[in-house]
Amino acid sequence: MKYDFDQVIDRANTACEKWDDLQNRFGVNDVIPMWVADMDFKSPPSVIQALTQRVEHGIYGYACRPDSYIDALVQWVKRRHQWSIEGEWMAHTPGILPAISVIINSFTQPGDKIMIQTPVYHPFARIITSLGRQVVNNSLKFENGRYTMDFADLEAKLDGGVKILVLCNPHNPVGRVWSREELTMLGQICIKNKILVISDEIHCDLVYKGYKHTPFAAVSEAFAEQSFTCIAPSKTFNLAGLQTSCIIIPNEALRERFNQSINSLAIGSPNALGITATEIAYRSGDEWLEQAIDYIQGNLAFLVRYFQENIPQIKVIQPESTYLVWLDCRELGLAADELATFMLTKARVAMNEGHIFGTDGEGFMRMNIGCPRSLLEKSVHQIKEAVTFLCRA
Ligand SMILES: Cc1ncc(COP(=O)(O)O)c(C=O)c1O
Repeated sequence: MKYDFDQVIDRANTACEKWDDLQNRFGVNDVIPMWVADMDFKSPPSVIQALTQRVEHGIYGYACRPDSYIDALVQWVKRRHQWSIEGEWMAHTPGILPAISVIINSFTQPGDKIMIQTPVYHPFARIITSLGRQVVNNSLKFENGRYTMDFADLEAKLDGGVKILVLCNPHNPVGRVWSREELTMLGQICIKNKILVISDEIHCDLVYKGYKHTPFAAVSEAFAEQSFTCIAPSKTFNLAGLQTSCIIIPNEALRERFNQSINSLAIGSPNALGITATEIAYRSGDEWLEQAIDYIQGNLAFLVRYFQENIPQIKVIQPESTYLVWLDCRELGLAADELATFMLTKARVAMNEGHIFGTDGEGFMRMNIGCPRSLLEKSVHQIKEAVTFLCRA
């Protein structure tokens, strides 16, 4: 491998949430952080070099989005996902969550219903309720270790006047890469019921070999006209802290209304370093990304084998994308709060508790394996020790 993903980099004292906020978030410090969704790898060397040059320039005034930046995004989406988009379809936000919040606020009224598919990235529900809207849940089906969408339940619940569906494509935390067939079924139901779709595709570039991401809006023109597609280099190239995202809105009327809201909130200004990093990453990051995926897929293979051989009580739900792995810990027989405390205080590994993703996540944990293999080995070894002790007791 050309890039060294084995290198352990000390992230302490870099104002980094994953490592520096442990005490605040979990009340402990000496645990291995396998929680918040960023990686312990450096970004591609070309990105670091471009950022270094930009930093050395020394002036960090207001930034703009040059044509070359827009073109890099258009080319990336075409090259990686075979979706031809126009530069003018793009709107820009610091992050995907601010965009989701703006869409819900601009296109629905307080009290309106917004659908999500749990277990799903927990801030979706938090944003919906904090904006005074109602969450309607279309739980995923979990059969034979695999998650699928429950279309019958979806259709039944849409009758109740749902305005927006927030789709997680690929899905965090269950790791599914939704197939074209699944997206087609979903989209047809939404079109029939005049539901706007927010397709959060922040994890779309980190898809394992053998799977293919389909942008929801690329399935048909009708889907494109009724949807917002959220993309970012944040997960792909570990750039989340540079706060640079793109919302693809082919429908002109929807786009204008979205942009009006962004302008009224004054959150559309780009991050100068984010622009530099995003453009170079999208232009030249393919090879690094392929190797990062290979490495993470190696981590996953190790994890699956280790759990099968040493901790059979915990089942790995095989992800098709992302470095976030959904672990079925129900066989340990611990209640949700006991499981969290057990992982933290006995295994000394900080993961995300499954129940925060929805009540159907109770008994699960989400583990972030975007880290050097040695760290992953250490953490699973600690989990094994703790589980062995628990099962003996
Ligand atoms: C599905 C999903 N959407 C959005 C986000 C956060 O995006 P942002 O930091 O751009 O708001 C995350 C971060 O983990 C995520 O997993």
